[in-house]
Amino acid sequence: MEADLNRIQSEALAETHAAGDLRALESVRVKYLGRSGDIPRLSEGMKSLSKEERPRFGRLLNEVRTAVTAALDVRAAALESERDAASLAGLDPTLPGNHAFRGTLHPLTQLQDRAIQILRHMGFVLADGPDIETEWHCFDALNTPPDHPARNEGDTFYLPDGRLLRSQTSTVQIRTMCAQRPPLRIIAPGACYRRDEVDATHLSQFNQIEGLYVDENVSLADLKSAVEMFVRGIFGEDAEIRLRPHFFPFTEPSYEVDVRAAALGGKWLEMAGCGMVDPAVFERVNEVRGDDAYDPERVTGFAFGFGLDRLAMCMSALPDIRLLIENDLRFLAQFPR
Ligand code: DAH
Repeated sequence: MEADLNRIQSEALAETHAAGDLRALESVRVKYLGRSGDIPRLSEGMKSLSKEERPRFGRLLNEVRTAVTAALDVRAAALESERDAASLAGLDPTLPGNHAFRGTLHPLTQLQDRAIQILRHMGFVLADGPDIETEWHCFDALNTPPDHPARNEGDTFYLPDGRLLRSQTSTVQIRTMCAQRPPLRIIAPGACYRRDEVDATHLSQFNQIEGLYVDENVSLADLKSAVEMFVRGIFGEDAEIRLRPHFFPFTEPSYEVDVRAAALGGKWLEMAGCGMVDPAVFERVNEVRGDDAYDPERVTGFAFGFGLDRLAMCMSALPDIRLLIENDLRFLAQFPR
């Protein structure tokens, strides 16, 4: 049996060295160390030895098992590193990697996010409404008479069923008041549509951000300070506002807001419309609600509407509004964030 042991050891070591890949090496391991392999088989055969012979043979057997196991491990490590080296062949790890292109948010999205953030700090919450609107929400409820030029086919996109693409986000004022009781303090950013000839300052789709605050005792002073605070948040603490009397059907009195700031080149620029909600608007809302939640004797409110694209143009001194929709990366990459 001892001779068997020596033969097995030298064969096992020779086959281990000869194994050309990990799979061949595994069959060598199974052949000698596996459950019915040669070494366990000899271990089994020890039973037939005399009591005196057994310990010596047991020790020899252990030495062989240790030597074969060690040789298998060494060969496995060598074969693994050969395999890794082969898979890296032809690869130069010192070459520079591929640069991953990282996009940025569109400048209008950045500006809208910032506007929302400022108005949220002032207690306004987001409100929403559909782009496809009824004539009632877009005009009648906003106290716009049937013969008003904005209601013209030439100014507004009408659908065959009589609905239209909203020409202003003021529609969201109506939708929110119809659904919720005062007090109410909302902002509604979103797209608007007009049949304008597209040029450097007009698009047929543009963006507004609308604000509405209704409660008891809301005053023109509240309107002025809210608009001022918002404008300072956007253009800097030195920004000043000027309210110029104007007319909107849904506010009385109504104003246009001019802004002057160093960031805008120090010139007065027209930026928004605003005013105190006309009692007639509250009455239209009450009619639909069937209550007097918006009793004009009890509640007052202010509203404002900023053109987001116009804000972006003024802020970044853009010469042409169309830059905002052309998706030219050379332009967009100038607004990293
Ligand atoms: N909706 C107006 C427009 O598109 C802007 C506007 C003016 C909104 C006065 C208002 C407002 O909420 O009170 O020109």
